[in-house]
Amino acid sequence: MSEVLRSPKDMKAYRKGLKGAVGFVPTMGALHAGHESLIKRAAQENDHVVLSIFVNPTQFNDPKDLEKYPATWEADLAMAQANDVRAIFYPKYDEMYPDQYRYKIIENDFSKLLCGKDRPGHFDGVLSVVMRLFNIVSPDKAYFGEKDYQQLSLIRGMTEAYFLDLEVVPVPTMREKDGLAMSSRNVRLTGEQREQAPWIYKAITQSKSAEEASSLLTAKGFKVDYVTDLQGRRFAAAKLGEVRLIDNVQI
Ligand code: PAJ
Repeated sequence: MSEVLRSPKDMKAYRKGLKGAVGFVPTMGALHAGHESLIKRAAQENDHVVLSIFVNPTQFNDPKDLEKYPATWEADLAMAQANDVRAIFYPKYDEMYPDQYRYKIIENDFSKLLCGKDRPGHFDGVLSVVMRLFNIVSPDKAYFGEKDYQQLSLIRGMTEAYFLDLEVVPVPTMREKDGLAMSSRNVRLTGEQREQAPWIYKAITQSKSAEEASSLLTAKGFKVDYVTDLQGRRFAAAKLGEVRLIDNVQI
């Protein structure tokens, strides 16, 4: 049985009792096979796995997106149990932010590009919550998906900048059979949008340039936020109706 801990104080006390290596998988719930691949990897490499589920309001710049974020507690719990997760940290907002978010971690360079351009404050919210989670859980290793490559890279940078005593482990993107990167937001796509959605992966892998990929996506009915080649990867974000999809691949 996975232990469910609802306050930072309880989580810290529980952590102190764990002997051996702790692998940590931070999430916002609505777990799917992508999250599960992080959990499985953490289980392989550690004595215990701690999972967190917290839909972090400070990283949502669009209140509608926060409101519509799916919550599937029963299924999440079942997935955690099936994978032998030792503890689930499931805090409430006021306990994660006793300062009401007066203190923030701000990165002033890479976080302003790509997803940071269209979502001001998004990565401040991500880094601020991940720093709090790291300090509460004290993991030896923490697992992040390459699906959110910019996030992974900023978190890795933060752990170096603040001399954190943990290793950030990248995990490859899990995809549906048709190439669409798994995401908690995919359930919000209509049937027709779901059929179009794999084009984001096809466009960034098959086009010769970022511009070509962008035009292709526009032609397929996407509202393109960006397609950009940077540091040997191609990054894309595009909307189908209300749903914003992101993806990236090595080039
Ligand atoms: P969330 O979107 O729930 O994702 C949790 C972790 O799962 C992230 O590291 C993300 O990159 C990874 N992930 C999601 N879809 C994936 C896929 N298809 N393949 C592989 N990994 C995948 O990312 C967040 O939550 C939050 O920003 C968080 C880091 C928890 C901070 O609030």
